[in-house]
Amino acid sequence: KTKRQTAASITARKGGEPIVGLTAYDAPTAALLDPHCDLILVGDSVGMVVHGLPSTVGVTMEMMILHGQAVMRGAAQSLVVVDMPFGSYESDPRQAFANASRLLIETGAGAVKIEAGTYTAEIISFLTERGIPVMGHVGLRPQSSNVTGGFKAVGRSDEEWRQVLAEAEAADRAGAFALVVEGVDELLARNITESVEAPTIGIGASSACDGQILVTPDMLGLFDWTPKFVRKFGNLRSDITSAVEAYAEAVRDRRFPGDEEVYRLRRN
Ligand code: KIV
Ligand code: NA
Repeated sequence: KTKRQTAASITARKGGEPIVGLTAYDAPTAALLDPHCDLILVGDSVGMVVHGLPSTVGVTMEMMILHGQAVMRGAAQSLVVVDMPFGSYESDPRQAFANASRLLIETGAGAVKIEAGTYTAEIISFLTERGIPVMGHVGLRPQSSNVTGGFKAVGRSDEEWRQVLAEAEAADRAGAFALVVEGVDELLARNITESVEAPTIGIGASSACDGQILVTPDMLGLFDWTPKFVRKFGNLRSDITSAVEAYAEAVRDRRFPGDEEVYRLRRN
């Protein structure tokens, strides 16, 4: 039985062999990913890819706790990180601590993640000093989509560039154990990775980062549409479609259930 990764063991990977991350939302999927990952994120992407919400803004603490508990039952050796949902940490450090501690206590996960504008530095240090490892998330921050107008890569203007770099440096100085960098120009990703002590975990942020993460249903090919940065390593969409078609046809033709699939309890 291998020892579970910790926030500290992830931090120690800076500049070394790339950190492998994926998201999970349920126990059986987490169990399948676990042997191959260093880090499993219970992302608030659960709202979109599992619950069918239009953005991550509608995700609640209760959803994160329920999915966090399920993932912890499936993952034995990866560090499990749970996203703090929109509205659960932004207003002040005490609110953030109350909710982050609930996530760790009720799920058993090892760390939380927050979308880190520069203003969240205070929150990150408050939590870290009180025993809660925090991963920051900079660049494209989906919880801000109502302000930014959608999900767009960032780093076009000098101002955006400076802003994202400032977010990353602020989170790093505040003690974030790692930083997700999402949807940024390749050079900006390199610039951030070289400027911070924390390992960077990229999603749409080039191979310059210290690790990578993807939304698992995206990389498994569950959806027609995915962002530019997703590579489909699988084809779940057509696998599921052909399985369901075959099942429906077998039921209609009375080929399912077959001889092997029935109970004959009173026959010898
Ligand atoms: O919610 C999520 O899945 C994430 C990853 C995209 C990093 O935050
Ligand atoms: Na997220």
